[in-house]
Amino acid sequence: MTQRTLVLVKPDGVRRGLTGEVIRRIEAKGYTLAALELRTATRELLAAHYAEHEGKPFYEPLVEFMLSGPVAAMVVEGERCIEGFRALAGATDPTAAAPGTIRGDLARDWGLKVQQNLVHGSDSPESAEREIKIWFSEIAG
Ligand code: CMP
Repeated sequence: MTQRTLVLVKPDGVRRGLTGEVIRRIEAKGYTLAALELRTATRELLAAHYAEHEGKPFYEPLVEFMLSGPVAAMVVEGERCIEGFRALAGATDPTAAAPGTIRGDLARDWGLKVQQNLVHGSDSPESAEREIKIWFSEIAG
């Protein structure tokens, strides 16, 4: 089934000049970009995006981190791309992420309160629909 997923290159990835490398891996896998935008998030946008994490100990540091610089937001398209991108990204904890994955190859633990793990990918069709509406209201639907 052709799906769409929301992918973010987080501020650590943009700062480190890894946006192109992430896009390269997505396209090399055979997925296509349906939308792409470099933008700095707002507290309102992040409150909607991370609603499920509100109240967790890492929530405030996470929001501060996500506000610390621009994010490359994209809508990625392809057969089973939700699961496929999460496989490309690797485990949430960059130290444990398998080599060969985006996080396993390019991210590490910096001893901070938040996992600076370079990328985000929607975790289900419901999340993808919700998150694409939040970041790209003009193309959602
Ligand atoms: P993401 O999957 O984009 O969404 C939630 C984010 O919170 C996650 O990436 C990490 O950046 C961060 N995160 C998740 N779990 C933890 C944790 N236990 N400690 C610190 N940060 C976390």
